[in-house]
Amino acid sequence: MKKIGILVGSARRGSFCQAIAGRLATLLPEGFEADFLKIDDLAMFLQDYDDDGAVPEAWARFRAQVRGYDAFIFVTPEYNRSVPPLLKNAVDIASRPFGQNTWKGKPAMVLAVSPGRVGGFAAFLHLRQILGSLNMRLLGYPETFLGDVVTFFDEEGVLSDEPNLLLQQWAKAFARWVELVG
Ligand SMILES: Cc1cc2nc3c(=O)[nH]c(=O)nc-3n(C[C@H](O)[C@H](O)[C@H](O)COP(=O)(O)O)c2cc1C
Repeated sequence: MKKIGILVGSARRGSFCQAIAGRLATLLPEGFEADFLKIDDLAMFLQDYDDDGAVPEAWARFRAQVRGYDAFIFVTPEYNRSVPPLLKNAVDIASRPFGQNTWKGKPAMVLAVSPGRVGGFAAFLHLRQILGSLNMRLLGYPETFLGDVVTFFDEEGVLSDEPNLLLQQWAKAFARWVELVG
């Protein structure tokens, strides 16, 4: 069984990313189990915590969790043409202290989600650049960014089945990638 950690870059009530990530998790093939990692209680990165040996409890929990997963799915919105601080903070925390980058060598997929037509492409590229610099093994193709996401939701904010086929293809491609390089 491959353990997949899912990180979502929005904790917003009614978040599109949360809904898409939730659906994607149900579409992973057999042999893969996914958990959502909590990142909205992580104090903003500060190297002093490590230097003083006084790491916040939530940081310690999160770093230990990251160590325990085989691969990761990052689902991100786009904030001002980049990655939201919530997600960048989580990535930074598990990349430190220096020499203890817990992301290193693990397979990952970035899925960017946006109500806009360009589909979060800038956030997609930025996050890939960040994770690449941490030596994660990133799924390169298919390119997984999803624009016009509002069209998949009804007036009550319920996600339709419309994106399922696409998400299933992406889930399969990621699973194959994890088997290949994980
Ligand atoms: C500070 C901020 C900046 C944003 N910048 C962008 C942007 O550059 N590109 C984009 O497509 N959407 C942008 N948006 C709109 C988000 O895509 C939208 O709020 C989306 O619903 C966030 O994802 P969520 O639904 O998962 O919370 C921005 C939103 C905020 C709050």
